[in-house]
Amino acid sequence: MCGILGVVVADQRKNVASELFEGAMFLQHRGQDAAGIVTSGPKGRFYQCKGNGMARDVFTQSRMNNLIGNMGICHLRYPTAGSSAGSEAQPFYVNSPYGITLSHNGNLVNSNELREYLDEVVHRHINTDSDSELLINIFAAELDKFNKSRVNNGDLFSALTGTMDMIRGAYACVAMLAGYGIIGFRDPNGIRPLLYGERTNKNGTTDYMLASESVVLKAHGFDKFRDIKPGEAVIITKDGAKPEFRQVMAPKIFAPDIFEYVYFARPDSVLDGVSVYRSRIDMGVKLAEKIQRSLSADEKIDVVIPVPDTARTSAFQCSVSLNVPYREGFVKNRYVGRTFIMPDQQERRSSVRRKLNAMDSEFQGRNVLLVDDSIVRGTTSKEIVAMAREAGAKKVFFASCAPPIRFNHIYGIDLADTKALVGFNRDEDEIASVIGADKVIYQDLEDLIDCCKRDEIQEFEVGVFNGKYVTGIEDNYIQELEKVRAQNQRMKEYRARGMSLDTNVDQEFVDVKPDVDISIHNSGDYNE
Ligand SMILES: *[C@@H]1O[C@H](CO)[C@@H](O)[C@H](O)[C@H]1NC(C)=O
Ligand SMILES: *[C@@H]1O[C@H](CO)[C@@H](O)[C@H](O)[C@H]1NC(C)=O
Repeated sequence: MCGILGVVVADQRKNVASELFEGAMFLQHRGQDAAGIVTSGPKGRFYQCKGNGMARDVFTQSRMNNLIGNMGICHLRYPTAGSSAGSEAQPFYVNSPYGITLSHNGNLVNSNELREYLDEVVHRHINTDSDSELLINIFAAELDKFNKSRVNNGDLFSALTGTMDMIRGAYACVAMLAGYGIIGFRDPNGIRPLLYGERTNKNGTTDYMLASESVVLKAHGFDKFRDIKPGEAVIITKDGAKPEFRQVMAPKIFAPDIFEYVYFARPDSVLDGVSVYRSRIDMGVKLAEKIQRSLSADEKIDVVIPVPDTARTSAFQCSVSLNVPYREGFVKNRYVGRTFIMPDQQERRSSVRRKLNAMDSEFQGRNVLLVDDSIVRGTTSKEIVAMAREAGAKKVFFASCAPPIRFNHIYGIDLADTKALVGFNRDEDEIASVIGADKVIYQDLEDLIDCCKRDEIQEFEVGVFNGKYVTGIEDNYIQELEKVRAQNQRMKEYRARGMSLDTNVDQEFVDVKPDVDISIHNSGDYNE
């Protein structure tokens, strides 16, 4: 999962870089792994700045001064299975045809097929594991087919139709064509969010923005905004002409990823007409009903305590519905950053304990209901339950706003391998015993869907809960995903060891991925 952003301002003498930077601050929660901005002016040169880390660290004042132009796109990367090297920070760039740069939020599920096509048919070199690099190259190859020195909106829309015919998965994208304008498009299932907005200047000209969440549009005064529809694309040209929208592919089942509402999006965002905050309130109502059905007469709750931060909204409503006091039992340390591990030292405190501190006064002698947004591996929940007990809790009930996560998330939220999920092959009692709680209470899937459902949207992507993915997947896709994830984990460990001054590991070397032969089909048979 990532954050994407695109801006075109009418005044060609203005630079958009600072606006992209400010916008990135509103989307930082969508990805802290890497950040990038590419800008361009009427003359068609791209200026870029990207790297690993948070937006405020990557976009320094001196680097920003070099980002010239009245249009630009931005990307904030969430660590996904395929990527963590600095070379994979987005936006991606291809020089041919015309110069294209692209930011992608989502994940493609037919990457093997696409890799093969790019290599064997259109002979494009792919240098990373990122499916976003596949996406931009497929689009470039489609545009190439027109064999024109200059393209128009019609060509771009047709190339997008061709692209969407080939790629399968989740994608919300903003792309920029050098000297031309910005393009936004969304997959035919609308799995990942993308919004379009307009802002009217004093003298009547209009600025345009594309963004992953409505908060950015609101904050920047793009008051007229709407969601890009599934399978729809928009082109905003540099000359200030009225943007053109087109349904480039027939929409399929509209199924936004329900995880946006459960956990990912900011509460003050409205995605596809659904307020994230309101949906979380409703999750609290439904969860309270489930809790009342699940607890026996002698299982009495004295206090409801949220696991900060996402679960606060639902936990509060849950306490109101249950008519049980709500207390902030855990205080979050806002300033935790990375840990420094000296070579002769093990990491002593768990990351949960570095982030959260329990207040004895709120736990002492009470039966507590802890409310969290979801339970993934169960390691965090286990630590939190232990902290509640150490703080003096009598009984600890653990409630999750989301149903048990039993399957991989394949559309860009890299949760964990299936076997690492605490919900994998375990029922609720077994999960309770793993995390050390007296009882675990999960939201029912039907209830969760009811909390987010609106007239236009009856279905959601809920594959993490039931294993049924809206786009279907390639054979072996999950195994491939897990292989890449394991490999990235190894790389991270190498790098961590590099940082701890282990002289056996060469920093330069570990950025290379030795197991992957990137030219998979071009391994020596030159005569064919
Ligand atoms: C609006 O103002 C900008 C400068 O602020 C100028 O470049 C542009 O030409 C103006 N447009 C109109 C329609 O007056
Ligand atoms: C592409 O266009 C150029 C110039 O118009 C032409 O010479 C060339 O033959 C075309 N190539 C293809 C494959 O059509």
